Amino acid sequence: MKKEVKHILVIHGPNLQLLGEREPDIYGAVTLEEINLRLRKEAEILGVELRIVQSNHEGEIVDLIGDTGSSIDAILINPAAYTHTSVAIRDALSAVAVPSVEVHLSNIYSREEFRRSSLIAPVVTGQVSGFGPESYLLGLRAVVGLVSADI
Ligand code: DQA
Repeated sequence: MKKEVKHILVIHGPNLQLLGEREPDIYGAVTLEEINLRLRKEAEILGVELRIVQSNHEGEIVDLIGDTGSSIDAILINPAAYTHTSVAIRDALSAVAVPSVEVHLSNIYSREEFRRSSLIAPVVTGQVSGFGPESYLLGLRAVVGLVSADI
């Protein structure tokens, strides 16, 4: 039987378009474009298709998640600042019947008090935090593992 190609929706939350110039001591020098390139290379190796979106708008992220329908098999998300504030994004992830993984470049548990809690973590399958751009690649492998038939 022919194996169906899995589709992964990658969502980058607010301010991540500034990676490379934004607080490089915390987030490093790698740009979002470069992270997306690395993700696409990894996706090719893993044999999955990516749809990658960056948005600074909570409602737009909620729409993206809610509109996945049957076209998306899993979600990889860095909710950025919305991690700590957005009940709406949490509810959207919880509402859709696809597995999801949360990623963070920085280790949110080693930073300011307000960053140490994630409203998103309880509704995703798992979280990767603190490995810089590698967090995304680890997250992608994890999410592909969740949807691949032979696991
Ligand atoms: C972040 C951590 C968040 O606390 C912060 O608001 C971000 C980026 C990370 O990837 O480390 O914008 O999600």
